[in-house]
Amino acid sequence: MKMGFLGAGKMGEAMIAALIRAGAVRPGDVLASDVSPARRRHLAMKYRVRVGAENPLVARSARALFLAVKPQDLERVLAEIAPAMSRKRLVISIAAGRTTAWIEKRLPQARVIRVMPNLACAVGEGMSVCCLGRRAAPADARTVRRLLACFGRVLRLPERLFDAVTALSGSGPAFFAYVLDRMADAATREGIRRADALLLAEQTMLGAAKALLEGGADPLDFIRAVASPKGATAAGLAVLDASPIGDILGRAIRAAARRSKELARG
Ligand SMILES: NC(=O)c1ccc[n+]([C@@H]2O[C@H](COP(=O)([O-])OP(=O)(O)OC[C@H]3O[C@@H](n4cnc5c(N)ncnc54)[C@H](OP(=O)(O)O)[C@@H]3O)[C@@H](O)[C@H]2O)c1
Repeated sequence: MKMGFLGAGKMGEAMIAALIRAGAVRPGDVLASDVSPARRRHLAMKYRVRVGAENPLVARSARALFLAVKPQDLERVLAEIAPAMSRKRLVISIAAGRTTAWIEKRLPQARVIRVMPNLACAVGEGMSVCCLGRRAAPADARTVRRLLACFGRVLRLPERLFDAVTALSGSGPAFFAYVLDRMADAATREGIRRADALLLAEQTMLGAAKALLEGGADPLDFIRAVASPKGATAAGLAVLDASPIGDILGRAIRAAARRSKELARG
């Protein structure tokens, strides 16, 4: 299947790389477009895909078309490709805040699926959430889930939850990196070198997430299982429990969701 990518920036490249790596598409079947000559050269050299500057050409040739430009550039790009989209193509948008209805209005023939991925796609551990537009069929959902599974996990949720999804899994990698940085910093004050502290914190975060995902335990049961009474973990947890950290994390998620809603209104 010929796949098109409008916008070959960080996310466009991460998806192209993952899909080729997984064998879901051959490099010769990937068509991408980007305004940046440097990006075009980079993609063509690194992945041997066809990259140009013409969005309508990509839109016309691809059976599945990924919209991977910034949300503020999407209106212009859709106006440019609309005349080339006379057939009922599958359009997969990853643009934050742009609803399926907003895209369908601008591409009246397209079968639209909206996806909120995250940057961990680049390392095959992405979390993508998808929802279907009015014209998308169950077969389209299956196609998109199969493609998204090439770079991580996939969940289908109602579109009304997308601002919350953006806050949790879209912005989440930055929030976890923030916590990780502060924990590593604290460990340097206990005498560990920063590089070692970062490795310890990163691998521990990865391991805890993996144990929770694969073990299926509730996080609170997991905590009870690892914290022996009066032990070191319990002493640290007592500080966390006595702090407003739950409230602070709640406010961070709420702020990100609110901002996502504002961005959607343009
Ligand atoms: N990054 C994330 O973690 C993340 C997570 C979830 C969803 N998303 C969504 O993914 C989309 C892409 O994000 P990104 O981080 O990959 O952005 P990015 O790195 O800026 O990539 C966008 C690319 O599109 C190019 N572009 C701009 N105008 C264009 C046009 N008219 N035609 C063709 N190409 C054009 C840009 O070139 P210039 O740089 O020269 O303008 C850039 O190379 C966004 O809509 C964002 O909301 C991103």
